[in-house]
Amino acid sequence: MQIHIYDSLGQIGVAAGLRVAAMVAEKPDCVLGLATGSTPLPLYNELVRLYNDGIVDFGRVRTFNLDEYAGIDISHEQSYHRFMADNLFSKININPANTRIPNPSPQDIAAECAEYDAAIESAGGIDLQILGIGGNGHIAFNEPGSVFPRSTHLADLTEDTIEANKRFFASADDVPKKALTMGIGSIMKARSIIIIATGRSKAKAVKQMTSGDVTPLCPASVLQFHPCVTVILDREAAELL
Ligand code: PGA
Repeated sequence: MQIHIYDSLGQIGVAAGLRVAAMVAEKPDCVLGLATGSTPLPLYNELVRLYNDGIVDFGRVRTFNLDEYAGIDISHEQSYHRFMADNLFSKININPANTRIPNPSPQDIAAECAEYDAAIESAGGIDLQILGIGGNGHIAFNEPGSVFPRSTHLADLTEDTIEANKRFFASADDVPKKALTMGIGSIMKARSIIIIATGRSKAKAVKQMTSGDVTPLCPASVLQFHPCVTVILDREAAELL
């Protein structure tokens, strides 16, 4: 793991954005794995800026998002479909047909999950995966547990994730309790990974991820076994390192 620590969210956006831009410049039809939540917003703002300045062309880029709340209407303002449209896709020249997010309401959940993994495979796999980390060490909705889930699946959100995400909803009761999420196996197949963490609430998880035991009790710890991970932190998230 290569760890980089920055003073501001603006610097984090630039550091991550330039890495994504370099990938797109090198491979214009690259496959990006994308994340939602507060953490990637500085990155997406930077990508929009680089696009507006004519530095990055997303015309051939393909994307797969990590996850989506199960059962949520895709027009709901907290759906990850809406998040991606509002914060990135509507602001750059990406072809909507080249963007994929798990369907929150498939007729057959197992078939949707299998098809999602197959679509990533047939796109050639993910070149660069963007990740955030939960305060409990989750990546995507792979919550702490007894195994590393292999592939895309329906996951139960833990109480602490519901608690963390309730800030986006009217109350904790309104937070969906399940999500379709890429598995740890899907994430580990990405050829390169950027994981971003900001704020003191992530410090303990960052410490476990970077130097704790590799255990499904801290799903992000598995990234210690990935050959190409860049960790981008602010000072608060890095304070226990
Ligand atoms: P956050 O979520 O960016 O909203 O903090 C990150 C995560 O839970 O993976």
